[in-house]
This record gives sequence, structure tokens and C-alpha cells, in this order.
Amino acid sequence: MSGDVYLDNAATTYPKPERVYRAMDRFAREVGGNPGRSGHHRALEAGREVLRAREALSRLFRIDDPSRIIFTKNATEALNLVIRGRLLEGGHAVITSLEHNSVWRPLEALSRKGGVAYTIVPCGADGSLDLSELRAAMTSETRLVACTHASNVSGALLPIREIAEVAAEKGVPLLVDAAQTAGRVEIYPKEMSITYLAFTGHKELFGPQGTGGLYMAPGWELEPLTCGGTGSRSESSLQPDFLPDRYESGTLNAHGLAGLRAGVEYVLEKGVVEIRRHERELTERLLEGLSAIPGTTVYGPREWEKRVGIVAFNLGNYSSSELASLLDDEYGICVRSGLHCSPLAHRTLGTLQRGVVRASLSHLNTEEDVEYLLRALREISRWGL
Ligand SMILES: Cc1ncc(COP(=O)(O)O)c(C=O)c1O
Repeated sequence: MSGDVYLDNAATTYPKPERVYRAMDRFAREVGGNPGRSGHHRALEAGREVLRAREALSRLFRIDDPSRIIFTKNATEALNLVIRGRLLEGGHAVITSLEHNSVWRPLEALSRKGGVAYTIVPCGADGSLDLSELRAAMTSETRLVACTHASNVSGALLPIREIAEVAAEKGVPLLVDAAQTAGRVEIYPKEMSITYLAFTGHKELFGPQGTGGLYMAPGWELEPLTCGGTGSRSESSLQPDFLPDRYESGTLNAHGLAGLRAGVEYVLEKGVVEIRRHERELTERLLEGLSAIPGTTVYGPREWEKRVGIVAFNLGNYSSSELASLLDDEYGICVRSGLHCSPLAHRTLGTLQRGVVRASLSHLNTEEDVEYLLRALREISRWGL
């Protein structure tokens, strides 16, 4: 059995829809100017291309004002912007036990410097969270609640609407890490009382690496992480105070944003509901197939309503890295093993020592991809566990 099946979409999606490759190629060959800088036609077209990307994301997230979408180089930068901005003068934050290091590490770094503290509210492996524990964790010093929308390890969805209600009760802004959900789960910051929505471009939004961003609700502006050239207010020594320029210093990744726009338009055209339906079919088949293979342990929720198409498992006595290497070397299957930049989530799942193998789907995966993985695992399990 040999093939080439990519099931590491939670790390980055591959392949991209054809139009994404074409959009980046077109930008590089036919546009080429620097957005927001010079006044010639290539710079103006580059600026329009960036605006179209902002508008496509605004449609996806149902945001009225596209200038509230700030482009960053990835979700990590967007998360850092909010965490550092909100805790600039110290204070307390609340996070969950399913967070990625992109949330945990900046908080830990700030707390080691002094003046910042944070509380980790425990979640179940299925993403459940006791709201009374969340309430109890919040103090008069709490300046931010930060929460992943879905675990990048087990695919468990967190109860974002309920968490938003608790944060709003206390008047504390909510930062949602939508790295794993933007493009595959309906998420509307305004309707869901989300203050800051951090997303990355290169996963289920199908853009290239080096793209991402942040939605920021009105009235919750922060100090920027960086200052510098914006192409606007060039005469001033001060950073512009208007959005998005206040947060977009230096030349943007316009080549990448052209690709991101095409990726988001693909998602808009298919529709998040249809994308989720397809992912459900594949995920349920994968979960069912895994549970029938002797020696397999699957982590995270079983019910589709509580998850996305990220599936964590182990097989027999194989270490997660051994199994992932076998899948790649013998079958050409790309999955990810180890801790997935989220030791907190692994502690929650009880897999901190061993790690897990993670198979993660995108809208471009097929039933054949899932069956091929299952066939490979069945064969490996027959070699002995
Ligand atoms: C839940 C979660 N948050 C944040 C990130 C960071 O995304 P990026 O590497 O694009 O900054 C990831 C990436 O895997 C993630 O899964």
C-alpha cells in the first residue's frame, strides 16, 4: 500500500483551493506594488487587494466595519497583541486548560516579569467547562478572559457563548483563539459578544502561511505591539490612531493576503454550514473506523456537536512519534505526533508523557483519504501492538 495523503490540516491546510495559488501568482506577476504606499496604479491595486481581503473576512465574520480586521502574520501575533496590550499595566487573566502555547506562553512570560497573574480554569477532555469555576476565577483585577474555540489537540469545541456571557456579566473582554475554527465553524463576534477574535490565515481559511489577523470590537482598542511606517500620516512622529493603520506597521504580506482573500472567498462560496457537513461525514467515519481497530484509544468528544475534524488517538504500545513515522514512511500519510504546542491540553487529556497522533481534516479531504488511513492502521495493528 503506498500513497500520499495529507491529514495534518490543523498544522496548516494542504492543498489549497486552486484559486489561492492563482491569486498569489497574479499578485506577484501582475500587481506587484506596495499597498498604501505610493500613488501609482500598482500600489493602488495592491491596496484594493488588501481591502478585498478585509471585506471577505468581514462577510465571513459578519462584521460591519472591515477596518476592524487587523492583519498580522499569524494567530500568535494577534493573540500576543491582545494579551500584552490588555495587561500592559499588569492585572489578571483567566484562560482554560485547553489553550495553545500561543496563549499560555505570553501570559507566563508576563507573569515572570511581575505584575501579571493568571488562572487556568480546568476543562474536561470533551471541552466542557464548569461556568461556576470560571466565575469564581474572575477577580476585580481580571482584565482578560482568553479561550480557544476548539482544541488543536482533540478537536473539542468550547462553550464560547456561555463563556462570553460570564465575561460580559463581569465586564471583562473576551479573546477567542479561532485558529482552528475560522472557516469551519460559524463564528460571529458581534452576535456572540466576543471582544477580540484572533485567527490565522493558513489553516481552514486556506490562505498561505504568514497571514492572520484580529477582529477588535469598538471601544476595546489597545496599544500596538509595533510602531513604524504605515503609509498614512507620514509627516507625524506618532503612530496613526485610526484602524487598521494603528496596528499595521511596515509592509503587509500583500502577496499572502491576495491568497487569503481567495481562500476566504472559497469558504464563503461553499458556505461554513456545508463545510461542516462534509467534515462531519469524514470525522464520524474516522471515529467509527478507529474504534473498531484493536488497541486504539481515541481522545476527545464523540458527539459531532462538541467537536471539529481533529482526531487524536494512540495505537497499542507505539509511541506517538513511532506511529506517525510509520504512517509517513510506509504509507505516505502525513499526521502529527507529540504535544502539538499544547502541553496544557495534553495534561487535560492525560497524554502529557506519551503525546498522541493527530489526524486533522480539511474540506479538501475525501472519504478515500480516511479509508486509506484506517486501512494503514488496521495493517499496522496486525503486525502486533
Ligand atoms: C489553537 C491554536 N492557537 C494558536 C495557534 C497558532 O497559530 P499560528 O501558528 O498560525 O500563529 C494554533 C496553531 O496551530 C492553534 O492550533
